[in-house]
Amino acid sequence: MFSKTHILYTLFVLSIFSCQQQDNTKESPTATKQADELTKYWFHLDKKQAKTSEGHYEWTFEIERPMKYDIQLLFEDSIATSYTATMTYQEQKQSQKLTQKYTTQLNAQSPNVAQFKKPITIATVGAHSISITTDAPFAEVRLVPNHKSYFGSGKYTQAWEEMHTSKAKQEALAWFNQAKFGMFIHWGLYSQAGGVWKGVKMEDSPYGGPSVAEWLMFKFKISREEYKKLAQTFDPDPSFAKVIARLAKEAGMKYVVITSKHHDGFALFDSKCSDYDMVDATPYHADALKELYDACLAEGLDFGVYYSHGNDWAHGSDGNYANIKKRNDSLGIYTHVNGKNTWDSSPNTHQEYIDNKAMPQVRELLTLLPQLKLIWFDGTGFLNEKQAFEFYKMVYDINPSVLLNRRVGADFGDYMDFGDNVIPSKQSKGAKQWETCGTTNNSWGYKSYDHHWKSTKELLFWFIDIASKGGNYLLNIGPEGSGKVPEKSAEGLKEIGQWLAINGEAIYGSSAWDVFHEGIEETTIAGTGHREKKGFTKKFSQEEFWFTKKENNLYAISLMPSSQEIFIKSWHQGIGQVKDIKILGHEQNIQWKQTDKGLSITLKKAIANDNGFVVKAVF
Ligand code: GLC
Repeated sequence: MFSKTHILYTLFVLSIFSCQQQDNTKESPTATKQADELTKYWFHLDKKQAKTSEGHYEWTFEIERPMKYDIQLLFEDSIATSYTATMTYQEQKQSQKLTQKYTTQLNAQSPNVAQFKKPITIATVGAHSISITTDAPFAEVRLVPNHKSYFGSGKYTQAWEEMHTSKAKQEALAWFNQAKFGMFIHWGLYSQAGGVWKGVKMEDSPYGGPSVAEWLMFKFKISREEYKKLAQTFDPDPSFAKVIARLAKEAGMKYVVITSKHHDGFALFDSKCSDYDMVDATPYHADALKELYDACLAEGLDFGVYYSHGNDWAHGSDGNYANIKKRNDSLGIYTHVNGKNTWDSSPNTHQEYIDNKAMPQVRELLTLLPQLKLIWFDGTGFLNEKQAFEFYKMVYDINPSVLLNRRVGADFGDYMDFGDNVIPSKQSKGAKQWETCGTTNNSWGYKSYDHHWKSTKELLFWFIDIASKGGNYLLNIGPEGSGKVPEKSAEGLKEIGQWLAINGEAIYGSSAWDVFHEGIEETTIAGTGHREKKGFTKKFSQEEFWFTKKENNLYAISLMPSSQEIFIKSWHQGIGQVKDIKILGHEQNIQWKQTDKGLSITLKKAIANDNGFVVKAVF
């Protein structure tokens, strides 16, 4: 039987020992509201209801919301750590010793829980089977949405949809698709340190956390007082704004998004509700953000700001960590620290920070930058649905044309992303427009010792692969504290600009065609760390093409020089009669023939350009 420590637990989990998604309406009235929202998508797989044979258990269950789930084994009593468990879900198999590390009783009220290291991804609605092989005396298996999966209650959906589908937002989204290519800029106090603190590189810090350079304060647990001193020397060369705006223009980018305030809490603009900003706290004494805005508009570029609303290591308290942890502990689920300041949190509450700094600063930005196109929120972490909605609505009420990204929280973004430096597979395409942000090396902020620059060809591959699936590419630079842009990244950007000067027609304003790519297998990249560890190993081929479409035209993009013969399989007669073929920026009146096998082109002269060419088909 369950011990008395489980009594509270059973209040939360009425459908324990059944094999169905929890029905909260039947829960005991003493179960808290929070638990309702939190446990709505949990599954409890009863050991007794499994198909069993000798230590092997299998269940089939219906999934309503595809997402990432953590898989847990629950025990009645604390368990010996000598057991091993193997979990199999489709190809995603994991074996694990139920060591101390993964087996915890978070507090006296929570069940004993052993959790598999990696969550599983359940990608489709419908029936799924999972199996566990173990000798361990578990009572049930629990599937808990991974902390990165979030679904709203539906309470705000209608109000949100009205704003999101408004004329102003839809026009802004049309602009966004036309733009396709933007510059991301990570620049702030951390840029002066270049990823090194007191002679120690980020990777060698005794503490955990990401090693991207803008996480300096977190990675070394630097106190608020000490970190603040970096402001005393932040004095860029005033030419930075014009130089960067020019570079974005030369790169063929159409919009610029800069970190107006990153997780460290320091604002690049003149804020009235905090002295921790460029004008009040640095020897520069001028509004660097406004300078860049003016320089960008002068170049004909559009402007957006990144704003970390969830994380603020200077004034954001512990980002609500302790409260969330307390709740999660009682349910036996882990709480990821989620980038919150737990080493030297500010004494105010997180809500006070939202009310007195984050909301007012976003309002200031909307006033300071009347032609602002988008706000790129970040650090969501433990913001709740109501807070996320309030940010969305506040921005809308002031300037309904400003787009917000997914990370504003809940499901309220006007557009999506699939993660930093992620090239999603064609299948993961969602209903909303989307953007991938990417780095030129493996860090966002300037990192003096990261020379792992992406070649121009690699950058073009990212860009074209993303564009062929309908996305935007927001490519980052991390200037030094002086404002200087690392040469290697500037070079790559300029070369993309040269490519776009000839081939931009296939990109700006384009959308995905039925076939996104042909020739060799699809390459997907799963994030900043993935690319850093694995490097870029893709081989290019002359048979390989990416496709985009615009009006009556299709475009086939190659990233290789061509011989005199070009063959595009996907452009066979079955897709319609091609009326004309052109190669952007190259010889005209070329010979071509469309058959049921594809479209063949014969050129008078091969194309020597290493970065390839674009074929345009007019229908
Ligand atoms: C992550 C990082 C942050 C960076 C952002 C860029 O959220 O925490 O440092 O600014 O990604 O997408």
